[in-house]
Amino acid sequence: MALEIRNLSRTFSHGEREVYALKDVNLVVRQGEFVNITGRSGSGKSTLLNLIAGLLTPTDGVILWNAKSISRLSDEEASRFRNEQIGYVMQGNAALANLTVWENVCLPWQLYSREGEVRERADKLLEQVGIAHLRDAYPSQLSGGEIKRMSIARALINQPGLLLADEPTGDLDKENTEEIMRLFREIADQGTTVIVVTHELETLRHGDLTYSMEQGRLSGPV
Ligand SMILES: Nc1ncnc2c1ncn2[C@@H]1O[C@H](COP(=O)(O)OP(=O)(O)OP(=O)(O)O)[C@@H](O)[C@H]1O
Ligand SMILES: [Mg+2]
Repeated sequence: MALEIRNLSRTFSHGEREVYALKDVNLVVRQGEFVNITGRSGSGKSTLLNLIAGLLTPTDGVILWNAKSISRLSDEEASRFRNEQIGYVMQGNAALANLTVWENVCLPWQLYSREGEVRERADKLLEQVGIAHLRDAYPSQLSGGEIKRMSIARALINQPGLLLADEPTGDLDKENTEEIMRLFREIADQGTTVIVVTHELETLRHGDLTYSMEQGRLSGPV
């Protein structure tokens, strides 16, 4: 078992009120499993991924990765864990503007002064997401879909055990969407656990299971 979430809740303050963005969520995702999460805008999907990635701390509950709690690490431990184990394609644009596409993709590899070559893998990933020709461009010169594809390559550069992707194909055409979903399927088959948040019903078939989020509560699989 790779990822286990138990009784996870998160509230946010809205004025004087505490509002649940996530309420009592339970989920187990096995190694190499590819899970989809759907749900309306504001239902808590990004909050769930941010909690798993350690960018938010839970109000209640625990998140276990290979039976070890990851939900209350120090900032430093969380950063290191994220860099080593998690690839996260965030919902917004997380590109670093003053780095080229190539440098953006290689950055997670270089953060902790790793030894060895990353060039070949970066080239292959840029090829796989279809933006090899843009390797020396800057993010401001890219379209929204191209930036998304760059973020996907960057999320995969460290060969994560867990890939989190928040509407990764929202800006893409049908053909590119299919290519990205096939890539996710391939890495899941090679052992990476994959969680994709999507509104696109036609891509659900690439995954193994689909859960749905409604007002902070997770149900399924359907
Ligand atoms: N930092 C925050 N402070 C206060 N409220 C927040 C914060 N982040 C999220 N929320 C609230 O939590 C709820 C869930 O937000 P979340 O971003 O998880 O939704 P979502 O399902 O990802 O929506 P979308 O499909 O639009 O991306 C929303 O009501 C949102 O307003
Ligand atoms: Mg969201």
